[in-house]
Amino acid sequence: PRPILIDTDPGQDDAVAILLALASPELDVRAITAVSGNVPVARTARNALQAVELSGRAVPVAMGCDRPMRRAPAHAAHVHGDTGLDGADLPEPTIPLDPRHGVDVIVETARAADGLTLVPLGPLTNVATALRRAPDIAGRLGRIVLMGGAYFEVGNITPAAEFNIWADPEAAAIVFRSGVPLTVVPLDCTHKALTLRHRIERFRAMPNRAGPVVAGWLDFFERFDRDKYGTDGGPLHDPLTIAWLLRPDLFTGREINVEIETESDLTRGMTVADWWGVTDRPPNALFLGDVDADAFYDLLAERIGRLP
Ligand code: BDR
Ligand code: CA
Repeated sequence: PRPILIDTDPGQDDAVAILLALASPELDVRAITAVSGNVPVARTARNALQAVELSGRAVPVAMGCDRPMRRAPAHAAHVHGDTGLDGADLPEPTIPLDPRHGVDVIVETARAADGLTLVPLGPLTNVATALRRAPDIAGRLGRIVLMGGAYFEVGNITPAAEFNIWADPEAAAIVFRSGVPLTVVPLDCTHKALTLRHRIERFRAMPNRAGPVVAGWLDFFERFDRDKYGTDGGPLHDPLTIAWLLRPDLFTGREINVEIETESDLTRGMTVADWWGVTDRPPNALFLGDVDADAFYDLLAERIGRLP
């Protein structure tokens, strides 16, 4: 199985991504690190523990950075609720946090596993701090597969930017210039994978524990887009990274150059993506534009159905 480390800020969609990874024998989840993002880091760490406990698996979960590299912390409780995981009642986790700092866990895991794949699902603070502190890991990592950014779909937190990149643009710039092979799942891709009613009902009908919990999370999560934009369902962002690792054939995209805007207030955190190849800047990312949504939800349902 492919060794991966998930860096995350759960978030209902992050939690579904964790479950999808832990239910998939193709992947060896070495550790999970929590970062400040959708809610403060003490919460994202607790939420990650809850997701791991729900999966019935044992994986170390460590708490990482409590604020972006240079910006004030920003959260998204308006989307995810005050706990970050509103929508299902889960017990307080009983498994303890790993005592190490999340950044140390990233560095140690990258040094221990040759070709580790990092899967960042929140602001890139932990990952960029690890790359800064231990530059040798850039050459050891196999790939970074992250959810963040937008091109045609543009922003969900400002008109120009997606939340994960906007929250810590300096960290994102470090990651996009790291030289590590990158796969990027932007809003352009996630907005093709909407949580339509019949898709959510599949999870609710499952006889296991995890299925109805996922349905509860998605009910809560989709109400933001439904209320605000009137769409049928909301985009299920983060699990698409794990789905790409499992079934890259479900996606299309382009190898392009992507730079991060860090100077301007107006366009802070914009992913300036050279989709049409109008510069001679070399490609640094596989930027995904589309996904076979029905096949993705089939895969997700089949995997969530394997859990307790
Ligand atoms: C991203 O921001 C968070 O709200 C989600 O968990 C996802 O990672 C989407 O912009
Ligand atoms: Ca997230």
